[in-house]
Amino acid sequence: MRVCVVGAGHVGLVTAAVFADLGNDVVCLDIDQDKIAALQDGQVPIFEPGLSEMVLRNQGAGRLTLTSSYPEAVPGAEVVFLAVDTPTGSDGRADLTNLRAATAELAQHLSDEALVVVKSTVPVGSGSIVRTILEENCRPERAFEVASCPEFLREGSAVADCLRPDRVVIGCSDPETVAPLVRLYAPLERPLLFMDVNSAELVKYAANSFLAMRISFVNSIADLCEEMDADIGQVIKGISADTRIGGHYLSPGLGYGGSCFPKDTAALASFSAEAGCPFTIIEAVMEVNRQRIPRFIGRLHNVLGDLKGREIAVLGLSFKPDTEDVRESRSLELVQALLAEGARVRAYDPVAVPAARRVVRDVRYCSNAYEAADGADALVIATEWNEFKLLDLERMGDLLRQRIIFDGRNTYSPSEMKDLGFQYVSVGR
Ligand SMILES: NC(=O)c1ccc[n+]([C@@H]2O[C@H](COP(=O)([O-])OP(=O)(O)OC[C@H]3O[C@@H](n4cnc5c(N)ncnc54)[C@H](O)[C@@H]3O)[C@@H](O)[C@H]2O)c1
Repeated sequence: MRVCVVGAGHVGLVTAAVFADLGNDVVCLDIDQDKIAALQDGQVPIFEPGLSEMVLRNQGAGRLTLTSSYPEAVPGAEVVFLAVDTPTGSDGRADLTNLRAATAELAQHLSDEALVVVKSTVPVGSGSIVRTILEENCRPERAFEVASCPEFLREGSAVADCLRPDRVVIGCSDPETVAPLVRLYAPLERPLLFMDVNSAELVKYAANSFLAMRISFVNSIADLCEEMDADIGQVIKGISADTRIGGHYLSPGLGYGGSCFPKDTAALASFSAEAGCPFTIIEAVMEVNRQRIPRFIGRLHNVLGDLKGREIAVLGLSFKPDTEDVRESRSLELVQALLAEGARVRAYDPVAVPAARRVVRDVRYCSNAYEAADGADALVIATEWNEFKLLDLERMGDLLRQRIIFDGRNTYSPSEMKDLGFQYVSVGR
């Protein structure tokens, strides 16, 4: 099937690669010409396990084409996915500027009877906006359908998630109108959930906000553990064994970050208030998350006192492991808070240093964890990359000026750290 994907970002490029890998003829379009030039040159600008190989394989086989040209990408496509970014705008609302622009542009090249599928995360009612823009801009007039198919992939496991989604939510007026989309997903053999477009749009915000709520909940329990001399690890063990609760998204730490949870919780709070239905739970979830970094900095103060002039080594800069993405990274927020306190920061991340360097300049970026620790007053673990679990802690202890580790991700066992002579401050323990 001929498919067009508009937006070659974390969602668009993965979607395009996966559908090409399933044997379709896919054109992926982005207005970022540097990104497209890099991709045409065989360089995949996103760090995502398995993505680079899949993109290159399908480009080589002629099933995946990258372009910046709408006239090249859209005509002939039976299904057009919209996967552009929908960042937080004023008042926490989702900013639909890119979605509107992409829709207006593609309308001019749409084939008759094409199905336009919104993959971007968009507030309830956006399907109707897309439909109106298409009606206004399709010349000559075309028959078309608009559907919603929110994406649930996670960065760091995006290819695997896209190949094996728990469910595919399809918002449409009638399942018959989305037959090409059903054919596209058929080889994955996953449950397809059909519903009206508004409900499908709301599913995405409800799902992300629910997961964010679990994270803020467990972080609040972790705070309580610190005050009451309990151990968050034990408490999580106890609650997650309850099959009604389970263990997903119950890791205590520096809070949620990334390009989705902060944006989607803010958007849900904003459009629910606008609808006259203030979502007080989600307001609290966001407030708990806002307090994570100030609280953690407070714990550094308790041990180190004034941070002015202190040399702090920070391990991990991406918002989570296995990605280069630093959007809304808690780690970068922590680095900025340390700098604001007058600390000197040296930092290391396995892949996110180039992205971090574009956001925060006054940091000494290092090429490994040991270089970062060498001569520092304390070490902070901010992102739970696997390689930090296997550090030579004796060596780290020798390199640090003092054996002090602040662990925002509970990487090590407190008793082992004590045996190694570290003053070890972790979360909720
Ligand atoms: N990143 C995730 O983990 C994730 C998961 C599920 C859903 N989502 C949602 O999917 C959407 C895309 O997210 P992302 O992380 O892929 O964003 P991204 O920023 O990585 O990529 C978006 C791409 O769209 C391109 N673009 C913007 N305007 C365009 C236009 N008019 N025409 C063509 N291309 C255009 C940008 O240049 C960019 O490359 C968002 O709504 C997001 O909330 C993201």
